[in-house]
Amino acid sequence: MASTTEVPYKKIEKICCIGAGYVGGPTCAVIAYKSPHIKVTIVDLNQARIDAWNSDDLPIYEPGLDEIVKASRGRNLFFSTDVESAINEADLIFVSVNTPTKKSGMGKGFAADLGYVESATRSIANLATSSKIVVEKSTVPCRTAQSMRRILDANGKPGVKFDLLSNPEFLAEGTAIKDLLNPDRVLIGSLDTPSGRSAASSLVDVYANWVNRKQIITTNLWSSELSKLVANALLAQRISSINAISAICEATGADVDEVAYACGLDTRIGPKFLKASVGFGGSCFQKDILNLVYLSESLHLPEVATYWKQVVDMNEYQKSRFTKRIISSLFNTLSGKRIALFGFAFKKDTGDTRESASISLCQYFRQERATVALYDPKVEETQIWLDLTETAPQDNLETIKKQVIIAADPYEAAKNADAIVVATEWDMFKDTNLDYEKLYSLMNKPAFIFDGRLILDRPKLEKIGFKVEVIGKASHDIGYE
Ligand SMILES: NC(=O)c1ccc[n+]([C@@H]2O[C@H](COP(=O)([O-])OP(=O)(O)OC[C@H]3O[C@@H](n4cnc5c(N)ncnc54)[C@H](O)[C@@H]3O)[C@@H](O)[C@H]2O)c1
Repeated sequence: MASTTEVPYKKIEKICCIGAGYVGGPTCAVIAYKSPHIKVTIVDLNQARIDAWNSDDLPIYEPGLDEIVKASRGRNLFFSTDVESAINEADLIFVSVNTPTKKSGMGKGFAADLGYVESATRSIANLATSSKIVVEKSTVPCRTAQSMRRILDANGKPGVKFDLLSNPEFLAEGTAIKDLLNPDRVLIGSLDTPSGRSAASSLVDVYANWVNRKQIITTNLWSSELSKLVANALLAQRISSINAISAICEATGADVDEVAYACGLDTRIGPKFLKASVGFGGSCFQKDILNLVYLSESLHLPEVATYWKQVVDMNEYQKSRFTKRIISSLFNTLSGKRIALFGFAFKKDTGDTRESASISLCQYFRQERATVALYDPKVEETQIWLDLTETAPQDNLETIKKQVIIAADPYEAAKNADAIVVATEWDMFKDTNLDYEKLYSLMNKPAFIFDGRLILDRPKLEKIGFKVEVIGKASHDIGYE
């Protein structure tokens, strides 16, 4: 592990963050909030996104984000599309752009598309007139820093020197502000050279404004890059593991919540990330595992690639298995039936829909010729139509709109529905917050509820009259009660 305290280092006064998305926005807003002496400018090419960051209606929903932004914006936190000025005045630049899975060409469907990282790196090289510390904040394949260094060295102006650091972000959407204010750890990777160690110390000093130095760990660049992929792969692996067990529970009468609780009490296992569900979503888990699979294949490690690929395959299986259970419960046909889909975000407390299980469920229901009435408290209508058209390119929006209705509230969604499907664990969907007696009265009978998130009180709903099917719990029909 590299020492970060013995070499002289530059005190950071100005930071630029390229990419005002789910990571760049909250991360740098918290840095500004906790470091009033540092000027932080977050830039993006997307004018609408920057305008939203400068308005009262921020472009992303995160609990606590509004307060953090409002406390610092205009003081030492700025949002701008003027990439050139922000790069030029900064001592340290975070590259926090998107790294989606490649949609075409070599590695299609697995490898990360590094086009945005390359383009941001080229902008830094071309525009910087003084030396900079450049920080990979985006999640990237192992050894991307080497490519970035080559681009910077080949294109930088004479006398301008770049030090490259890796500082992956471990925040989770929905709890981003809490995670950033109180991180389990901050990871900084650098080259093990005097200048690399000095750059790492500069960044350690920024985080040390609010994070205990013991929690700021420094490693070599490649360990840092790989650790981010591995952390997400391990988290997703736990979800796929418990989801695989949920299938056994449904067939045997074991209860997945009880199994997870009993196993999680073992301190070697721990209780977190053992909640069965309809499957994980979000922009990162699938993308990062596929990235790890691609890396393993590139390194001629096919057994390793197959092992990790199974985590993603299990996730797909869980979504289709849940759909099959819904179809079979509804007397083997969804044709002409109305399904109230509760939740479209990939998890609660975010408006993000990337890789949301709800998108797959909605498309499965459409293929079965059902009408889907969906409701989500935070996702914008335009985003829902975009997601549904992108994932069903054979259908135009008009065709989709004949089968999908966006409801104003859960009661409107449930009106004349044959089933409610809970796909996102929003607190408002809990039986303590919604009037399920009213929902029952509005629905066709028998009225079904499929709990894909294990958030409902099954006996209470059955008492009302619902037929309740829960992931990881047997149907009453199979007689294991
Ligand atoms: N979303 C998460 O929960 C999360 C968590 C940890 C890590 N990450 C990683 O962080 C990175 C960013 O993710 P995100 O969710 O914030 O993505 P995002 O799509 O929300 O934001 C990326 C932003 O970068 C901007 N951008 C792209 N190229 C640019 C350029 N050359 N100049 C200026 N702006 C540019 C885009 O316009 C966009 O607004 C990804 O690598 C992701 O894997 C994401």
